[in-house]
Amino acid sequence: MSVINEQKNCQWRIARRPTGNVVNEDFSYHEEEIPVIRNNELLLKTLYLNLAPVMRMYMSGESIAGEKGLDIGEIIHGRGVAEVIESNNSAYKPGDIIQGQIGWQTFKKTKVTEKERFRKMNDCGLPFSLGLSTLGMTGLSAYFGLLACGKPKKNETIVVSGAAGGVGSTVIQIAKLMGCRVIGLAGNQAKCNLIKELGCDEVINYKTEDVRQALDDICKDGIDVYFDNVGGDILSACLDNLAQDSRIVLCGSISEYLYHKPYGLNNYTKLRKTNSCMQGFFIYNHSDQFDEAEKELSTWLKEKKIKPVEHIYNGFENMPDALSNIYDGGNFGVALCRIRYGPNDNNQSIGRS
Ligand SMILES: NC(=O)c1ccc[n+]([C@@H]2O[C@H](COP(=O)([O-])OP(=O)(O)OC[C@H]3O[C@@H](n4cnc5c(N)ncnc54)[C@H](OP(=O)(O)O)[C@@H]3O)[C@@H](O)[C@H]2O)c1
Repeated sequence: MSVINEQKNCQWRIARRPTGNVVNEDFSYHEEEIPVIRNNELLLKTLYLNLAPVMRMYMSGESIAGEKGLDIGEIIHGRGVAEVIESNNSAYKPGDIIQGQIGWQTFKKTKVTEKERFRKMNDCGLPFSLGLSTLGMTGLSAYFGLLACGKPKKNETIVVSGAAGGVGSTVIQIAKLMGCRVIGLAGNQAKCNLIKELGCDEVINYKTEDVRQALDDICKDGIDVYFDNVGGDILSACLDNLAQDSRIVLCGSISEYLYHKPYGLNNYTKLRKTNSCMQGFFIYNHSDQFDEAEKELSTWLKEKKIKPVEHIYNGFENMPDALSNIYDGGNFGVALCRIRYGPNDNNQSIGRS
């Protein structure tokens, strides 16, 4: 990993709207003075930054999932993990590690606004990069979505879409821990192999197989829990294959993000006949229980009952290339970039690095 200029706040900003995949010319590199903090403010030093497919949409100016699109010249936004190095805020002290909205920059001055959704991380003895995967919003979404909404019971059949993604890859592993039979959907052979390795009993390649037919064949007694990351046709196919008293967890609708109007589900009445329910959730509505969940997830990680699926890039200078890489369909689990080494980070990713 090359050395960053520690005397400056290094930033990646949007230089122009991408056409197709992002290329280096879509980004501009800046160095500014490290900000000086005032009353109630913190100075953060960035350790890790998340890379997500949705970032290209922000760069195209689109508002997605509640985040506004970027104007030309703005710092690319994204979640990260950072260390507090100066504090004028009594709730934080130097050395605290937080996760939240940092943006593509190596230092950040903040007033800790609601919108930044900062969360202080506990030291579980594990690398803090996990604050962007299993111990961050990704892992917490899998945890609360599955356990609080899906309420899985032993031997039940669970179907997970987007199964090789950050949330899905964690859902599969927790569902196996709960003693369930798990069916995962993914879009290529390598991802199908990965989710099988993570414990899926059956896998469906939704790009090459007829999903409705495959679900019919595999779920003879119907689906007890469908964990939905994608919406659209796959959600509709699962509605047609429900078991009695089943639960659908609405986590995301990634297949619909590019539609100009909603998909228009026309078979939701299938819930009625099977006495089933469909429940959405928003991860921040569970924030009062995050510490408890972090504790349980970190215990499972330490006991190797679950593992993070991470692709870790190295070096702030590589952020644009790293983002470009994740659009080739080969993006497994969570992609993140190590900007600096953090506490407990021994360069030994437990997942795929
Ligand atoms: N409710 C909440 O509070 C909450 C919290 C966090 C995340 N989310 C949502 O949960 C979803 C999953 O998040 P994530 O972090 O796991 O995302 P991710 O890591 O990007 O994974 C999403 C997966 O979806 C698959 N996919 C993409 N387009 C698809 C399509 N058209 N049809 C079927 N599968 C498709 C991709 O793999 P393939 O190559 O297999 O297609 C990818 O592995 C997102 O929609 C996100 O917005 C919701």
